[in-house]
Amino acid sequence: MTLPIDHVAIVVRSLDEALAFYRDALGLDVIERRDVPEEGVEVASLPLGGGRIELVRPLSDEGGVARFLEKRGEGLHHICLVVDDIVDAMEQLRDAGAELVTDEPQVGVDGTRYVFIHPKSAHGVLLELYEEPT
Ligand code: CO
Repeated sequence: MTLPIDHVAIVVRSLDEALAFYRDALGLDVIERRDVPEEGVEVASLPLGGGRIELVRPLSDEGGVARFLEKRGEGLHHICLVVDDIVDAMEQLRDAGAELVTDEPQVGVDGTRYVFIHPKSAHGVLLELYEEPT
């Protein structure tokens, strides 16, 4: 089996400086750029493979992304994989001893259900699972 990548999220200090590389030097298009105030971030999306790169900048000193940036600096934040059934995937992972960040799937504004898998279960990488709305 294979799992499609929905997005790779990279935390940056400045979207303009990050776009000077990912858009101008590497040549990727910008699909959209918007504030996501409910998550305290500004995001720029660029196409990558079948999915996207999400460049993420914290809007303030508060929140998980700001803490990540302060502690670890810029870099890979998480990789998001698409699953058919998030409840089944969570059960399979729990049965295998993996630690999920939340007990229940979270629901995004577009109806996408998602959950994060703790980096200690995924060998140092934060993984996100998406189930797209049907
Ligand atoms: Co994500």
